[in-house]
Amino acid sequence: MPASLARPSATPPERVAAGPLVLRRVEAGDAAVIAAAVGASLEHLRPWMAWATPEASDVRIQLLRVAEADELWETGAGFIYVMIARHSAPARTPVAATGRGGDPDGEFVGTIGMHRRAADDAVEIGYWIASAKTRRGYATAAARALTPVALDLSGTRRVEIHCDVANTASAAIPRKLGYRLDRVEAHEREAPGERGRRMIWVWDPPGGAAGAEWSTGPTGRAARASAR
Ligand SMILES: CC(C)(COP(=O)(O)OP(=O)(O)OC[C@H]1O[C@@H](n2cnc3c(N)ncnc32)[C@H](O)[C@@H]1OP(=O)(O)O)[C@@H](O)C(=O)NCCC(=O)NCCS
Repeated sequence: MPASLARPSATPPERVAAGPLVLRRVEAGDAAVIAAAVGASLEHLRPWMAWATPEASDVRIQLLRVAEADELWETGAGFIYVMIARHSAPARTPVAATGRGGDPDGEFVGTIGMHRRAADDAVEIGYWIASAKTRRGYATAAARALTPVALDLSGTRRVEIHCDVANTASAAIPRKLGYRLDRVEAHEREAPGERGRRMIWVWDPPGGAAGAEWSTGPTGRAARASAR
């Protein structure tokens, strides 16, 4: 059915294909691999993520986070996915040797979430990538795949990505995808790398999800966005 005829959904799919990645609803079985990745990425995450403390590398804390994510999902307030890099070939190497932890989909590389804001009709996308897995296009691929999914949620008119002005790596993602920089506003510094000024990047195609030209490449999207 064309996207324009489909009814907007209250909850998104639990699995989303995202180029080299599969985005999968986070579940309790992911807690250990998330805790390990956070522990190995603390220096990389700390400047930007207030929650990135040594305690966050404890699997019990991550189990609590998954329980919170379940509640968010059930209430429709937020939808958190693990990003899994698909195996490029069937795994023949024993799991212990690859460190893949036996995930049938591939290797955990980070998380991405969609958060609804009760006050308005926006959905905000947030993400982080394990330090050993950066600069492979994963955050871009995941945000590209989730943007139309977010727009398809009932009552959504636009998708936003927020990041502090000092976070150039994060800002590069909405810029690459053709989001427009709507404004820069003051915010309370929550993490040590932040300057206290937040960029609000917006994707709000005139035709809603159906108007999003996701079949064109990033250049096409950027050109289209800057033409508005
Ligand atoms: C921001 C972050 C999610 C980017 O993830 P990623 O998978 O490495 O991003 P991509 O590979 O898709 O990179 C897309 C573009 O971002 C830019 N970029 C990414 N990392 C960068 C860095 N360290 N320095 C400068 N630019 C960077 C580049 O332009 C890159 O494109 P290129 O590789 O073709 O030049 C990751 O660095 C991260 O987890 N940072 C810490 C947590 C965080 O800041 N989250 C966002 C909070 S708002």
